[in-house]
Amino acid sequence: MATHEGAPAAAPAREQWSGQVGFILSAIGSAVGLGNIWRFPGVAYENGGGAFLIPYIVALLSAGIPILFLDYAIGHRFRGSAPLSLRRLGGRPLEALGWFQVAIAFVISLYYTAVIAWALSYFIFSFDLRWGDDPAGFLQGDYLQVSDPGVSLQFVPGVLIPLALVWIATLLVLGAGVAKGLERANVIFLPLLVVGFLVLVVRALFLEGADVGLNALFTPDFAALADPNVWIAAYSQIFFSLSIAFGIMITYASYRRRRANLTAPGLVVAFANSSFEILAGIGVFATLGFFAVQQGVAVGELEGLTGVGLSFVTFPAIVSQMPGGPLFGALFFGSLTLAGFTSLISVLQVVSAGVQEKFGLSRWQATLGIGGTAAILSVLLFSTTTGLLALDVVDNWANNVGIVGSAVLTTILVIWVLRKGPELQHHLNTVSTFRVGRVWIVLVGGLVPVLLGYMLLSRIITLLVEGYAGYPTSYLGVFGWGTIGLIVVAAAVLTVLPWRANREPFTAWPPYSARSTSSSRTPLQGGRR
Ligand code: ALA
Repeated sequence: MATHEGAPAAAPAREQWSGQVGFILSAIGSAVGLGNIWRFPGVAYENGGGAFLIPYIVALLSAGIPILFLDYAIGHRFRGSAPLSLRRLGGRPLEALGWFQVAIAFVISLYYTAVIAWALSYFIFSFDLRWGDDPAGFLQGDYLQVSDPGVSLQFVPGVLIPLALVWIATLLVLGAGVAKGLERANVIFLPLLVVGFLVLVVRALFLEGADVGLNALFTPDFAALADPNVWIAAYSQIFFSLSIAFGIMITYASYRRRRANLTAPGLVVAFANSSFEILAGIGVFATLGFFAVQQGVAVGELEGLTGVGLSFVTFPAIVSQMPGGPLFGALFFGSLTLAGFTSLISVLQVVSAGVQEKFGLSRWQATLGIGGTAAILSVLLFSTTTGLLALDVVDNWANNVGIVGSAVLTTILVIWVLRKGPELQHHLNTVSTFRVGRVWIVLVGGLVPVLLGYMLLSRIITLLVEGYAGYPTSYLGVFGWGTIGLIVVAAAVLTVLPWRANREPFTAWPPYSARSTSSSRTPLQGGRR
């Protein structure tokens, strides 16, 4: 194995999770986020209802779990942030891919924080049902003060203050480090989230009309399975939701001990995430069923069944109508805030770790530098009167073009071009109890790049030809394609800049040789690092 570049001979000991449980909770905390609660129910409903579970499970098994294992293997074997691990794996071109992932994480952090800030505000608004009897007007008018598409520097204090609070909390957690900051936050917040959300779902199931909502969600429309867009929706959902292909799981796996089981905890994380997602679908649609029955309409006739509309318009409207609404609202928005926060810290750790390792910065220097820059940008972009529109466009491009593009590039470069599949498979099997076979390489090296490559191309063509959600082309050029352009330029610049740390050869693992693959386990050398 030739190019193990980077890595210090006498580097400070790498930060570590305190143990397997801490890692699993943190990885689940990262996976369970806004994507589970506000995105999944609507996506499932729009894409075939009960029948959506088929592409969803296929996407989980054929791409979600295989890429999760790929991320784990890269991070654990090469023990670095995404740029450092990938550079050690394949030199400078792969480092660029690592920075591409870091830049996507950076962009996501900018608007993800804004949604968490809204959820935090709505948590407080729940107690006195501040949105009154017009939640849509309240969101767009009183709260966000949305104006026409464009760029505005008119700040909305009601958004600015919670946004600043979310940023301060995030920087404190990142600055405290992996075990004392990220892990501790997850160990406290994840159980709180699970308990709060379970109470919410059980309450929702006892609402009058809950069965109507569940029927609407789970009645399968098998004809939808013939539509490629339904499959695209399933793969995109799995990627964002599992936190894969944008640096998070590479970074998180790099903090695992040398003797760390990778695949079995990976399965726990993947199935926990999907269980939470389906639970969210049940809770949200049971609640929507109640609302539909109150209004005397079918669930399908309700407006705002996805994304921002679902969480910040439809839910407040329902909360106003139900007995015990304030508590229900507080549980929903509290859950959204906690789920978002435990994901946000993982997104930003990707950026912080990358910068620390390339420029030899301390944790606090990187946290304040990167976090401070991101905080200012997110305040500028998303606490203004045009925040809602910018968020929608940036989110669509970052996910559907950025993350999917990163997954396709990673599998093509790592498996096809560099032929690292057997080495990474060997690594997974050397340390893990659940061993992966050739089928893993076939999935990450064959099915994923071909299928996702097709998905990506068709998505790009659709966006170019049809635009998106009726926005002016120039607006999409700036906030959609412009975002992707900035991500690419940032990745190129960061790759070209010289390394100020981690230059020595990296020799943590015995070199891989094809003969050592299948039968025997290579003994681990050295102790824990
Ligand atoms: N995995 C995180 C989510 O689902 C990013 O929101």
